[in-house]
Amino acid sequence: MDKLQIQGGTPLEGEVRISGAKNATLPIIAAALLADDPVTIGNVPHLHDVTTMIELLGRMGVSVTIDEHMKIEIDPSTIRDHVAPYELVKTMRASILVLGPLVARFGSADVSLPGGCAIGARPVNIHVAGLQAMGADISIEGGYIRARAGRLQGARLVLDTVTVTGTENLLMAAVLADGETILENAAREPEVVDLANFLIAMGAKIEGAGTDKIVVQGVKKLHGTHYEILPDRIEGGTYLVAGAMTGGNVRIKRTRPEHLDAVTAKLQEAGAKVGVGDTWIEVDMRGKRPRSVDVRTAPYPAFPTGMQAQFAALNTIADGVGTIIETIFENRFMHMLEMRRMGAEIRLEGNTAIIKGVQKLTAAPVMATDLRASASLVLAGLVAEGRTDIERIYHIDRGYEAIEEKLAQLGAQIKRVPN
Ligand code: EPU
Repeated sequence: MDKLQIQGGTPLEGEVRISGAKNATLPIIAAALLADDPVTIGNVPHLHDVTTMIELLGRMGVSVTIDEHMKIEIDPSTIRDHVAPYELVKTMRASILVLGPLVARFGSADVSLPGGCAIGARPVNIHVAGLQAMGADISIEGGYIRARAGRLQGARLVLDTVTVTGTENLLMAAVLADGETILENAAREPEVVDLANFLIAMGAKIEGAGTDKIVVQGVKKLHGTHYEILPDRIEGGTYLVAGAMTGGNVRIKRTRPEHLDAVTAKLQEAGAKVGVGDTWIEVDMRGKRPRSVDVRTAPYPAFPTGMQAQFAALNTIADGVGTIIETIFENRFMHMLEMRRMGAEIRLEGNTAIIKGVQKLTAAPVMATDLRASASLVLAGLVAEGRTDIERIYHIDRGYEAIEEKLAQLGAQIKRVPN
Protein backbone atom coordinates (compact mmCIF):
# COMPACT_ATOMS: atom_id res chain seq x y z
CA MET A 1 0.00 0.00 0.00
CA ASP A 2 1.29 3.50 -0.84
CA LYS A 3 2.22 6.11 1.70
CA LEU A 4 2.74 9.84 1.50
CA GLN A 5 6.07 11.37 2.45
CA ILE A 6 6.08 15.04 3.31
CA GLN A 7 9.06 17.21 4.12
CA GLY A 8 7.57 20.04 6.16
CA GLY A 9 8.41 23.70 6.32
CA THR A 10 7.62 25.19 2.91
CA PRO A 11 5.02 27.98 2.75
CA LEU A 12 2.54 27.12 0.00
CA GLU A 13 2.18 29.63 -2.81
CA GLY A 14 0.11 29.60 -5.97
CA GLU A 15 -3.17 28.52 -7.47
CA VAL A 16 -5.05 25.24 -7.36
CA ARG A 17 -8.09 24.14 -9.31
CA ILE A 18 -10.88 22.55 -7.31
CA SER A 19 -12.44 19.29 -8.48
CA GLY A 20 -16.10 18.29 -8.60
CA ALA A 21 -17.69 17.54 -5.23
CA LYS A 22 -17.51 13.93 -4.08
CA ASN A 23 -20.63 14.28 -1.94
CA ALA A 24 -22.65 15.61 -4.86
CA THR A 25 -21.30 13.08 -7.35
CA LEU A 26 -22.28 10.04 -5.27
CA PRO A 27 -26.02 10.84 -4.95
CA ILE A 28 -26.17 12.08 -8.55
CA ILE A 29 -24.76 8.80 -9.88
CA ALA A 30 -27.35 6.95 -7.77
CA ALA A 31 -30.10 9.28 -9.03
CA ALA A 32 -29.29 8.31 -12.62
CA LEU A 33 -31.09 5.05 -11.80
CA LEU A 34 -34.35 7.00 -11.82
CA ALA A 35 -34.17 8.01 -15.48
CA ASP A 36 -35.74 6.22 -18.43
CA ASP A 37 -32.88 7.23 -20.76
CA PRO A 38 -29.10 7.55 -20.44
CA VAL A 39 -27.66 10.54 -18.54
CA THR A 40 -24.21 12.08 -18.80
CA ILE A 41 -22.39 13.73 -15.92
CA GLY A 42 -19.38 16.05 -16.19
CA ASN A 43 -16.83 17.50 -13.73
CA VAL A 44 -16.79 14.11 -12.00
CA PRO A 45 -13.80 13.86 -9.64
CA HIS A 46 -11.43 10.95 -10.11
CA LEU A 47 -11.80 9.40 -6.68
CA HIS A 48 -11.97 5.97 -5.17
CA ASP A 49 -15.49 6.49 -3.78
CA VAL A 50 -16.74 7.47 -7.23
CA THR A 51 -15.25 4.30 -8.70
CA THR A 52 -16.98 2.29 -5.98
CA MET A 53 -20.35 3.87 -6.80
CA ILE A 54 -19.84 3.14 -10.50
CA GLU A 55 -18.87 -0.45 -9.66
CA LEU A 56 -22.02 -0.77 -7.55
CA LEU A 57 -24.22 0.23 -10.50
CA GLY A 58 -22.18 -2.02 -12.78
CA ARG A 59 -22.85 -5.02 -10.50
CA MET A 60 -26.59 -4.41 -10.98
CA GLY A 61 -26.12 -4.61 -14.75
CA VAL A 62 -26.30 -0.85 -15.37
CA SER A 63 -24.09 0.23 -18.25
CA VAL A 64 -21.60 2.94 -17.22
CA THR A 65 -18.92 4.37 -19.50
CA ILE A 66 -16.25 6.92 -18.62
CA ASP A 67 -14.26 9.02 -21.08
CA GLU A 68 -10.75 10.40 -20.54
CA HIS A 69 -12.14 13.65 -19.08
CA MET A 70 -14.10 11.73 -16.43
CA LYS A 71 -17.39 12.43 -18.15
CA ILE A 72 -19.56 9.47 -17.37
CA GLU A 73 -22.56 8.09 -19.16
CA ILE A 74 -25.04 5.96 -17.27
CA ASP A 75 -27.71 3.88 -18.99
CA PRO A 76 -30.01 2.42 -16.33
CA SER A 77 -32.14 0.52 -18.86
CA THR A 78 -29.80 -2.49 -18.74
CA ILE A 79 -30.34 -3.07 -14.98
CA ARG A 80 -30.61 -6.78 -14.04
CA ASP A 81 -31.02 -6.80 -10.29
CA HIS A 82 -31.47 -4.39 -7.41
CA VAL A 83 -28.86 -5.55 -4.92
CA ALA A 84 -26.14 -3.51 -3.18
CA PRO A 85 -23.88 -6.23 -1.76
CA TYR A 86 -22.11 -6.10 1.60
CA GLU A 87 -18.62 -6.21 0.14
CA LEU A 88 -19.17 -2.86 -1.61
CA VAL A 89 -21.36 -1.19 1.01
CA LYS A 90 -18.85 -1.94 3.76
CA THR A 91 -16.16 0.00 1.87
CA MET A 92 -18.40 3.00 1.29
CA ARG A 93 -21.42 3.94 3.39
CA ALA A 94 -22.74 6.25 0.68
CA SER A 95 -23.83 3.08 -1.18
CA ILE A 96 -27.03 3.48 0.87
CA LEU A 97 -27.90 6.20 -1.66
CA VAL A 98 -29.14 3.58 -4.15
CA LEU A 99 -31.94 2.57 -1.75
CA GLY A 100 -34.35 5.43 -2.53
CA PRO A 101 -33.90 5.32 -6.33
CA LEU A 102 -34.21 1.51 -6.53
CA VAL A 103 -37.44 1.40 -4.53
CA ALA A 104 -38.97 4.37 -6.32
CA ARG A 105 -38.12 3.22 -9.86
CA PHE A 106 -38.15 -0.58 -9.63
CA GLY A 107 -40.18 -1.28 -6.49
CA SER A 108 -37.44 -3.48 -5.11
CA ALA A 109 -34.11 -3.04 -3.31
CA ASP A 110 -31.81 -5.26 -1.29
CA VAL A 111 -29.16 -3.02 0.21
CA SER A 112 -26.67 -4.18 2.79
CA LEU A 113 -26.87 -2.30 6.08
CA PRO A 114 -23.76 -0.13 6.25
CA GLY A 115 -23.01 -0.58 9.95
CA GLY A 116 -20.71 1.78 11.81
CA CYS A 117 -17.51 3.34 10.58
CA ALA A 118 -14.38 5.04 11.88
CA ILE A 119 -16.19 8.30 12.67
CA GLY A 120 -19.30 7.00 14.40
CA ALA A 121 -22.33 4.70 14.44
CA ARG A 122 -24.05 6.43 11.52
CA PRO A 123 -27.48 4.76 11.56
CA VAL A 124 -29.88 4.87 8.58
CA ASN A 125 -33.15 4.70 10.52
CA ILE A 126 -34.39 8.00 9.07
CA HIS A 127 -33.90 6.78 5.49
CA VAL A 128 -35.87 3.63 6.29
CA ALA A 129 -38.67 5.32 8.24
CA GLY A 130 -39.22 7.85 5.44
CA LEU A 131 -39.55 5.15 2.79
CA GLN A 132 -41.95 3.22 5.01
CA ALA A 133 -44.08 6.33 5.42
CA MET A 134 -44.21 6.49 1.60
CA GLY A 135 -45.61 2.96 1.50
CA ALA A 136 -42.53 0.76 1.11
CA ASP A 137 -42.56 -2.57 2.89
CA ILE A 138 -39.18 -2.87 4.58
CA SER A 139 -37.60 -5.64 6.63
CA ILE A 140 -34.07 -6.34 7.78
CA GLU A 141 -32.95 -9.81 6.74
CA GLY A 142 -29.45 -11.25 6.96
CA GLY A 143 -27.89 -7.82 7.39
CA TYR A 144 -29.75 -6.43 4.38
CA ILE A 145 -32.47 -3.81 4.09
CA ARG A 146 -35.09 -5.57 1.97
CA ALA A 147 -37.55 -3.06 0.50
CA ARG A 148 -40.54 -3.77 -1.72
CA ALA A 149 -43.16 -1.34 -2.98
CA GLY A 150 -45.72 -0.57 -5.63
CA ARG A 151 -45.65 3.08 -6.68
CA LEU A 152 -44.57 5.08 -3.63
CA GLN A 153 -47.09 7.52 -2.21
CA GLY A 154 -46.30 11.14 -1.44
CA ALA A 155 -46.17 11.91 2.30
CA ARG A 156 -45.24 14.62 4.78
CA LEU A 157 -41.96 13.56 6.36
CA VAL A 158 -40.51 15.34 9.38
CA LEU A 159 -36.91 14.19 9.68
CA ASP A 160 -35.83 13.54 13.29
CA THR A 161 -32.29 14.77 12.72
CA VAL A 162 -30.81 16.81 9.91
CA THR A 163 -29.28 14.15 7.68
CA VAL A 164 -27.61 14.79 4.34
CA THR A 165 -27.83 11.36 2.69
CA GLY A 166 -31.19 10.76 4.43
CA THR A 167 -32.63 13.90 2.80
CA GLU A 168 -31.09 12.83 -0.52
CA ASN A 169 -32.49 9.31 -0.40
CA LEU A 170 -36.00 10.52 0.40
CA LEU A 171 -35.83 13.28 -2.20
CA MET A 172 -34.86 10.72 -4.86
CA ALA A 173 -37.73 8.49 -3.77
CA ALA A 174 -40.25 11.36 -3.75
CA VAL A 175 -39.65 12.51 -7.32
CA LEU A 176 -41.34 9.40 -8.75
CA ALA A 177 -43.95 9.00 -6.00
CA ASP A 178 -47.64 9.53 -6.54
CA GLY A 179 -48.61 13.01 -5.31
CA GLU A 180 -46.89 15.54 -3.08
CA THR A 181 -44.08 14.87 -0.64
CA ILE A 182 -42.98 17.43 1.91
CA LEU A 183 -39.59 16.99 3.57
CA GLU A 184 -39.41 19.00 6.80
CA ASN A 185 -36.14 19.57 8.68
CA ALA A 186 -34.35 18.75 5.43
CA ALA A 187 -30.57 19.16 5.10
CA ARG A 188 -29.61 22.43 3.38
CA GLU A 189 -26.14 21.41 2.17
CA PRO A 190 -25.10 22.60 -1.32
CA GLU A 191 -24.76 18.94 -2.34
CA VAL A 192 -28.48 18.41 -1.64
CA VAL A 193 -29.21 21.41 -3.88
CA ASP A 194 -26.96 20.01 -6.62
CA LEU A 195 -28.83 16.71 -6.50
CA ALA A 196 -32.15 18.56 -6.66
CA ASN A 197 -30.94 20.54 -9.69
CA PHE A 198 -29.92 17.31 -11.40
CA LEU A 199 -33.33 15.77 -10.70
CA ILE A 200 -35.04 18.93 -12.00
CA ALA A 201 -32.93 18.68 -15.18
CA MET A 202 -34.37 15.16 -15.60
CA GLY A 203 -37.92 16.50 -15.30
CA ALA A 204 -38.57 16.32 -11.53
CA LYS A 205 -40.73 18.95 -9.82
CA ILE A 206 -38.95 20.18 -6.69
CA GLU A 207 -39.16 23.42 -4.72
CA GLY A 208 -37.29 24.60 -1.68
CA ALA A 209 -34.00 22.70 -2.01
CA GLY A 210 -31.44 24.60 0.06
CA THR A 211 -34.07 25.39 2.71
CA ASP A 212 -35.28 23.10 5.50
CA LYS A 213 -38.56 22.43 3.67
CA ILE A 214 -38.46 20.69 0.31
CA VAL A 215 -41.70 20.15 -1.59
CA VAL A 216 -41.85 17.57 -4.37
CA GLN A 217 -44.67 16.89 -6.83
CA GLY A 218 -44.16 13.34 -8.04
CA VAL A 219 -43.94 12.68 -11.79
CA LYS A 220 -44.43 9.41 -13.67
CA LYS A 221 -41.05 9.30 -15.36
CA LEU A 222 -37.75 11.14 -15.69
CA HIS A 223 -35.75 11.66 -18.87
CA GLY A 224 -32.04 11.75 -19.69
CA THR A 225 -29.94 14.90 -19.30
CA HIS A 226 -26.40 16.23 -19.06
CA TYR A 227 -25.24 17.70 -15.78
CA GLU A 228 -22.02 19.28 -14.42
CA ILE A 229 -21.16 18.59 -10.77
CA LEU A 230 -20.58 21.55 -8.44
CA PRO A 231 -17.08 22.20 -7.01
CA ASP A 232 -16.01 20.43 -3.81
CA ARG A 233 -16.22 22.89 -0.92
CA ILE A 234 -14.37 20.63 1.50
CA GLU A 235 -11.47 20.08 -0.89
CA GLY A 236 -11.35 23.84 -1.48
CA GLY A 237 -11.42 24.58 2.24
CA THR A 238 -8.61 22.10 2.85
CA TYR A 239 -6.26 23.92 0.42
CA LEU A 240 -7.14 27.27 2.00
CA VAL A 241 -6.18 25.95 5.44
CA ALA A 242 -2.97 24.55 3.91
CA GLY A 243 -2.12 28.04 2.67
CA ALA A 244 -2.90 29.65 6.02
CA MET A 245 -1.10 27.08 8.19
CA THR A 246 2.11 27.18 6.20
CA GLY A 247 2.23 30.98 6.27
CA GLY A 248 1.67 31.05 2.52
CA ASN A 249 -0.62 32.51 -0.09
CA VAL A 250 -3.02 30.17 -1.89
CA ARG A 251 -5.78 30.85 -4.39
CA ILE A 252 -8.40 28.20 -5.08
CA LYS A 253 -9.97 28.40 -8.52
CA ARG A 254 -13.25 27.07 -9.87
CA THR A 255 -14.97 27.19 -6.51
CA ARG A 256 -18.26 28.62 -5.22
CA PRO A 257 -17.13 31.10 -2.56
CA GLU A 258 -20.62 31.37 -1.02
CA HIS A 259 -20.43 27.71 0.02
CA LEU A 260 -17.33 28.38 2.09
CA ASP A 261 -18.53 31.40 4.10
CA ALA A 262 -18.24 29.65 7.48
CA VAL A 263 -14.73 28.49 6.58
CA THR A 264 -13.41 31.80 5.26
CA ALA A 265 -14.83 33.57 8.34
CA LYS A 266 -12.72 31.27 10.54
CA LEU A 267 -9.63 31.88 8.40
CA GLN A 268 -10.10 35.62 8.86
CA GLU A 269 -10.44 35.08 12.60
CA ALA A 270 -7.15 33.18 12.42
CA GLY A 271 -5.55 36.32 10.99
CA ALA A 272 -5.51 35.51 7.26
CA LYS A 273 -6.28 38.09 4.61
CA VAL A 274 -9.05 36.58 2.52
CA GLY A 275 -9.88 37.78 -1.00
CA VAL A 276 -12.97 36.55 -2.82
CA GLY A 277 -13.99 36.73 -6.49
CA ASP A 278 -16.82 35.16 -8.45
CA THR A 279 -15.22 31.75 -8.68
CA TRP A 280 -12.09 32.00 -6.55
CA ILE A 281 -10.92 32.54 -2.98
CA GLU A 282 -7.44 33.60 -1.93
CA VAL A 283 -5.93 33.31 1.51
CA ASP A 284 -2.81 35.26 2.46
CA MET A 285 -0.97 34.48 5.70
CA ARG A 286 2.53 35.48 4.59
CA GLY A 287 4.86 36.41 7.42
CA LYS A 288 2.31 35.56 10.13
CA ARG A 289 1.55 32.80 12.59
CA PRO A 290 -2.15 31.89 12.68
CA ARG A 291 -4.19 32.68 15.79
CA SER A 292 -6.16 29.85 17.40
CA VAL A 293 -9.85 29.65 16.57
CA ASP A 294 -12.85 28.06 18.26
CA VAL A 295 -14.93 25.78 16.06
CA ARG A 296 -18.29 24.10 16.58
CA THR A 297 -19.54 21.84 13.82
CA ALA A 298 -23.21 21.89 12.80
CA PRO A 299 -25.31 21.33 9.67
CA TYR A 300 -24.95 23.78 6.76
CA PRO A 301 -24.73 26.78 6.63
CA ALA A 302 -22.82 26.49 9.94
CA PHE A 303 -19.26 25.20 10.17
CA PRO A 304 -18.94 21.79 8.40
CA THR A 305 -17.82 18.67 10.22
CA GLY A 306 -15.82 17.88 7.07
CA MET A 307 -13.48 20.81 7.90
CA GLN A 308 -13.13 20.12 11.63
CA ALA A 309 -9.95 18.05 11.41
CA GLN A 310 -8.21 20.61 9.20
CA PHE A 311 -8.89 23.45 11.67
CA ALA A 312 -7.70 21.20 14.49
CA ALA A 313 -4.43 20.89 12.57
CA LEU A 314 -4.25 24.67 12.19
CA ASN A 315 -4.80 25.14 15.93
CA THR A 316 -1.92 22.80 16.78
CA ILE A 317 0.61 25.40 15.60
CA ALA A 318 -1.44 28.57 16.17
CA ASP A 319 -0.93 31.26 18.75
CA GLY A 320 -3.23 30.61 21.72
CA VAL A 321 -5.75 27.98 22.77
CA GLY A 322 -8.57 26.86 20.48
CA THR A 323 -11.58 24.69 21.28
CA ILE A 324 -13.08 22.32 18.76
CA ILE A 325 -16.56 20.92 19.41
CA GLU A 326 -17.80 18.12 17.14
CA THR A 327 -21.59 17.83 17.25
CA ILE A 328 -22.30 15.65 14.18
CA PHE A 329 -20.22 12.49 14.52
CA GLU A 330 -19.32 11.04 17.91
CA ASN A 331 -15.93 9.61 17.01
CA ARG A 332 -14.39 12.09 14.63
CA PHE A 333 -11.28 12.80 16.69
CA MET A 334 -8.86 10.05 15.66
CA HIS A 335 -6.55 12.60 14.04
CA MET A 336 -6.08 14.28 17.42
CA LEU A 337 -4.30 11.23 18.78
CA GLU A 338 -2.02 11.03 15.74
CA MET A 339 -1.23 14.76 15.89
CA ARG A 340 -0.27 14.38 19.54
CA ARG A 341 2.42 12.00 18.32
CA MET A 342 3.77 14.95 16.32
CA GLY A 343 4.02 17.08 19.45
CA ALA A 344 0.56 18.68 19.41
CA GLU A 345 -0.86 19.64 22.81
CA ILE A 346 -4.44 18.42 22.76
CA ARG A 347 -6.80 17.63 25.61
CA LEU A 348 -9.92 15.63 24.81
CA GLU A 349 -13.11 15.85 26.83
CA GLY A 350 -15.96 13.97 25.17
CA ASN A 351 -16.81 15.76 21.95
CA THR A 352 -14.51 18.68 22.76
CA ALA A 353 -10.83 19.07 21.95
CA ILE A 354 -8.85 21.82 23.60
CA ILE A 355 -5.74 22.56 21.59
CA LYS A 356 -2.88 24.70 22.81
CA GLY A 357 -0.78 25.84 19.88
CA VAL A 358 2.90 24.92 19.92
CA GLN A 359 5.70 26.67 18.03
CA LYS A 360 6.53 23.57 16.00
CA LEU A 361 5.28 20.08 15.28
CA THR A 362 7.87 17.39 14.74
CA ALA A 363 7.58 14.79 12.00
CA ALA A 364 6.53 11.26 12.93
CA PRO A 365 5.14 8.24 11.14
CA VAL A 366 1.34 8.56 11.37
CA MET A 367 -1.65 6.61 10.18
CA ALA A 368 -4.72 7.85 8.33
CA THR A 369 -7.97 6.62 9.90
CA ASP A 370 -10.67 8.31 7.84
CA LEU A 371 -10.87 10.72 4.98
CA ARG A 372 -10.81 14.12 6.67
CA ALA A 373 -8.54 12.89 9.46
CA SER A 374 -6.03 11.97 6.76
CA ALA A 375 -6.24 15.44 5.29
CA SER A 376 -5.41 16.96 8.66
CA LEU A 377 -2.35 14.74 8.97
CA VAL A 378 -1.16 15.94 5.57
CA LEU A 379 -1.59 19.53 6.81
CA ALA A 380 0.31 18.73 10.00
CA GLY A 381 3.07 17.15 7.90
CA LEU A 382 3.33 20.31 5.80
CA VAL A 383 4.35 22.37 8.85
CA ALA A 384 6.24 19.75 10.86
CA GLU A 385 9.99 19.76 11.22
CA GLY A 386 11.38 16.77 9.34
CA ARG A 387 9.80 14.08 7.19
CA THR A 388 6.31 12.82 7.97
CA ASP A 389 5.24 9.47 6.55
CA ILE A 390 1.47 8.95 6.35
CA GLU A 391 0.25 5.40 6.01
CA ARG A 392 -3.12 4.03 4.91
CA ILE A 393 -3.59 6.83 2.44
CA TYR A 394 -6.36 4.98 0.62
CA HIS A 395 -8.58 7.08 2.87
CA ILE A 396 -7.23 10.23 1.19
CA ASP A 397 -7.75 8.78 -2.28
CA ARG A 398 -11.43 8.29 -1.44
CA GLY A 399 -11.96 12.04 -1.36
CA TYR A 400 -9.04 14.14 -2.62
CA GLU A 401 -8.26 14.06 -6.31
CA ALA A 402 -4.51 14.02 -7.03
CA ILE A 403 -3.68 15.55 -3.65
CA GLU A 404 0.08 15.16 -3.94
CA GLU A 405 0.12 16.72 -7.41
CA LYS A 406 -1.98 19.67 -6.33
CA LEU A 407 0.12 20.27 -3.21
CA ALA A 408 3.37 19.88 -5.16
CA GLN A 409 2.08 22.50 -7.60
CA LEU A 410 1.80 24.85 -4.60
CA GLY A 411 5.42 24.12 -3.69
CA ALA A 412 4.96 21.40 -1.08
CA GLN A 413 7.62 18.72 -0.84
CA ILE A 414 5.41 15.69 -1.01
CA LYS A 415 5.58 12.36 -2.77
CA ARG A 416 3.72 9.09 -2.92
CA VAL A 417 5.91 6.06 -2.33
CA PRO A 418 5.15 2.34 -2.19
CA ASN A 419 5.25 1.07 1.38
N1 EPU B 1 -28.32 10.12 11.53
C1 EPU B 1 -29.25 9.37 12.21
N2 EPU B 1 -30.11 8.55 11.49
C2 EPU B 1 -30.10 8.51 10.13
C3 EPU B 1 -29.15 9.29 9.44
C4 EPU B 1 -28.27 10.08 10.16
O1 EPU B 1 -29.29 9.39 13.43
O2 EPU B 1 -30.90 7.76 9.55
C5 EPU B 1 -27.38 10.97 12.27
C6 EPU B 1 -25.92 10.57 12.09
O3 EPU B 1 -25.55 9.53 12.96
C7 EPU B 1 -25.18 11.85 12.37
C8 EPU B 1 -26.16 12.92 11.85
O4 EPU B 1 -27.42 12.27 11.73
O5 EPU B 1 -25.02 12.02 13.75
C9 EPU B 1 -25.80 13.53 10.54
O6 EPU B 1 -25.38 12.55 9.62
P1 EPU B 1 -25.71 12.62 8.08
O7 EPU B 1 -26.73 11.60 7.75
O8 EPU B 1 -25.98 14.03 7.68
O9 EPU B 1 -24.33 12.17 7.45
P2 EPU B 1 -24.17 11.38 6.10
O10 EPU B 1 -25.27 11.76 5.19
O11 EPU B 1 -23.94 9.96 6.38
C10 EPU B 1 -22.83 13.19 4.76
C11 EPU B 1 -21.51 13.24 4.06
C12 EPU B 1 -20.40 13.32 5.09
C13 EPU B 1 -20.60 14.60 5.89
C14 EPU B 1 -21.98 14.52 6.58
C15 EPU B 1 -22.34 15.72 7.40
C16 EPU B 1 -21.95 12.08 1.99
C17 EPU B 1 -21.75 10.87 1.14
N3 EPU B 1 -21.39 12.06 3.22
O12 EPU B 1 -22.83 11.99 5.55
O13 EPU B 1 -19.18 13.38 4.38
O14 EPU B 1 -19.58 14.76 6.83
O15 EPU B 1 -22.99 14.34 5.58
O16 EPU B 1 -22.36 16.83 6.61
O17 EPU B 1 -22.57 13.03 1.57
C18 EPU B 1 -16.88 13.02 4.08
O18 EPU B 1 -16.99 13.54 2.96
O19 EPU B 1 -15.77 12.74 4.59
C19 EPU B 1 -18.08 12.70 4.84
C20 EPU B 1 -18.07 11.87 5.88
